[in-house]
Amino acid sequence: MSENKPVNVSRDTVDHLFDIEGRVAIVTGATGALGGAIAVAYALKGVKVVATARNAQKLDALRVQIEGEGGVCTTVAADPSDTDSFAQVIEAAKREFGGVDILAVAHGYNKPENILTQSVEDWSYIMDADLKSVYIVCKMVAEEMAQAGKGGKMVVVSSARSKMGMAGYTGYCASKGACDLMIQSMACDLSAQYGINVNTINPTVFRSDLTEWMFDPDSAVYQNFLKRLPIGRLGEPSDFLGLAVLLASPAADFLTGGNYDATGGYWAC
Ligand SMILES: NC(=O)c1ccc[n+]([C@@H]2O[C@H](COP(=O)([O-])OP(=O)(O)OC[C@H]3O[C@@H](n4cnc5c(N)ncnc54)[C@H](OP(=O)(O)O)[C@@H]3O)[C@@H](O)[C@H]2O)c1
Repeated sequence: MSENKPVNVSRDTVDHLFDIEGRVAIVTGATGALGGAIAVAYALKGVKVVATARNAQKLDALRVQIEGEGGVCTTVAADPSDTDSFAQVIEAAKREFGGVDILAVAHGYNKPENILTQSVEDWSYIMDADLKSVYIVCKMVAEEMAQAGKGGKMVVVSSARSKMGMAGYTGYCASKGACDLMIQSMACDLSAQYGINVNTINPTVFRSDLTEWMFDPDSAVYQNFLKRLPIGRLGEPSDFLGLAVLLASPAADFLTGGNYDATGGYWAC
């Protein structure tokens, strides 16, 4: 006969499931819609943020906003596809905050074009911006985390398009599909031995400067999208924050190598 054992869940565990206060996060693409939202959200949760992108002026505005909210932020203008440049981001994290616990990768680029007219150079540029640079920043931060020996969390923004083709998207879909598999492989390299958890978030359309035009409810694009969107609307950057915090937090200690759906149900139908 089996005993009635108490359920093994402690108040301490539950209270701190999503606690990321005091951690240090590098956020790439911090001048963009999703990277900016992640940087502000992490800072409001008490994370010390190293915000990076190539545009120093926009980074400065983000830092002023975060500091205005009482958050802690430093910025480094850097190119994620350049190892010397990105090394300065890691140096800043170590110098200013003593290391790095979380990496959020939210930079990216697309220039849709039919394969018949697209140049090989344009295709390669997309692959470098959306895949090679992601490899570079993950590799460099993983080396730092492995050396520090404290583990860490990596949250990489991929796309719903990683698992679905689209006209004009030979570069974007290929890079995002490869990104998902690269992150799964990184989990195999990094999680058991080094305690570094690596996951992607895969969004559909979220409001940004580039996607703003899709949000016109009268447009055919919007109406067509909605036919395949069980949630009934497109995404706002604030819709993105739950997964971004979850995957950086102790609640994700058992989550690695995953591709997390932020599609509003787009993958479901
Ligand atoms: N918004 C959406 O609907 C959506 C949907 C699916 C996936 N995503 C993915 O989410 C990520 C963030 O998207 P977002 O909507 O926040 O885009 P966004 O607002 O256009 O921001 C893009 C960010 O990436 C940086 N960037 C642009 N071109 C780059 C390049 N060639 N190399 C390195 N960095 C570059 C930009 O900063 P600097 O120019 O200052 O360097 C900026 O911080 C991207 O990976 C995107 O593919 C977005």
